[in-house]
Amino acid sequence: MARLLITGGAGFIGSHTCVVLLNAGHDLVIVDSFANSSPIATARVANISGLTPNQEKERLVIIEGDIRDEGALSSIFENATKQNQPIEGVIHLAGLKSVMESITQPLKYWDVNVNGSRCLLSIMEAHNCRTIVFSSSATIYGNPESFPIAEVDPIQPINPYGATKAAVESMLSNLQGNKAIWHIACLRYFNPVGAHPSGLIGEDPKNIPNNLFPLVCQVAIDRRKLLNVFGGDWPTPDGTCIRDYIHIMDLAEGHLAAINSLLRKESNYLTLNIGTGKGYSVLEIINEFEKTSGEKIAYKIVNRRDGDTAISLADPSQANKKISWRATRNIEDICRDSWNWQRLNPTGFTMDKVI
Ligand code: NAD
Ligand code: WQD
Repeated sequence: MARLLITGGAGFIGSHTCVVLLNAGHDLVIVDSFANSSPIATARVANISGLTPNQEKERLVIIEGDIRDEGALSSIFENATKQNQPIEGVIHLAGLKSVMESITQPLKYWDVNVNGSRCLLSIMEAHNCRTIVFSSSATIYGNPESFPIAEVDPIQPINPYGATKAAVESMLSNLQGNKAIWHIACLRYFNPVGAHPSGLIGEDPKNIPNNLFPLVCQVAIDRRKLLNVFGGDWPTPDGTCIRDYIHIMDLAEGHLAAINSLLRKESNYLTLNIGTGKGYSVLEIINEFEKTSGEKIAYKIVNRRDGDTAISLADPSQANKKISWRATRNIEDICRDSWNWQRLNPTGFTMDKVI
């Protein structure tokens, strides 16, 4: 088992990934600015993982900091080495993820996502830590021409957010060069949704959500009157867009499989789609969610949203081949766990109560 640094570990993907990594025996240091997350999430990670306060001190160290602060990052690596528990690998999740915001504030996205990654990589190199799992995104494929999407398909991002993810992949590939001294995995997530089955952690957007699942949940719990369905005239069987929704716990297990494989030095460079290979339309999601929750989801079909693509669907076979991972949870699990999280935490983590 290893000591790992998790950047952005308090976020949606980070908190669930920490639960899985702790359960597998890894010790974690989280660095997070809490720009889009809450310390309550990390307290709940400790709770779910059954850590006593003493174990927590050893196994789940939380540091509030920014990945662009090279001094702060350096101290994390130095302190770990001083304690005789050097950081052996990094799971790099810290970043900004709103497509819309990236269009209005592209420089902010290049600074946090690209410059932040550069800072992290230079400090890793300085401390001789060359094992990293990077949170890339299916968004880098842009508007693909054929489905399912394979890793060798063209990278052609259509928004600044996607461009920053593609840029970090290029940076990692340049860093590897032909020396093969790094161990790198770029995980291209499709649509991560759902929540931990305990209902203690889940997705908690700070502002008005843009994504389908948080919006469906908020309609179900009456925080919102209805869901706008973006377009009913797409070239799909029911006219609404199709996506590959992946349960957050499957995604978290994908990180465990990737970091373990890298730590075993099975590969130097992996680029893997992390999806299910099964797609659902927006209307199918509404229908599944209604069945699982017993709540009615009022909706109205409106114009298409700029930047959407009709279909996004992964070919996840490489992840199965290279790191022996595949998604095991289905759409019913996704709807049940999303609804459980929403029901138990109607206003997300803002109740300020650590349970
Ligand atoms: P999130 O916003 O919940 O988590 C990101 C975390 O990074 C947050 O806790 C935030 O506070 C932290 N952070 C932001 N800027 C930081 C900085 N400068 N220094 C330190 N911490 C910082 O988002 P998420 O959904 O958990 O996404 C995690 C990563 O996965 C992101 O890089 C995102 O781009 C990528 N990703 C997400 C999705 C998705 O749909 N959720 C899909 C593909 C890729
Ligand atoms: C899903 C479907 C919408 C909201 C985004 C990012 C992508 C990645 C994952 C980070 C689409 C429809 C949505 C609504 C709707 N994130 N929809 N009404 O756009 O596939 O992907 O998250 O890397 O980069 O772009 O996800 O959840 O926003 O939308 O009809 O109010 O739901 O049109 O078809 P998307 P989403």
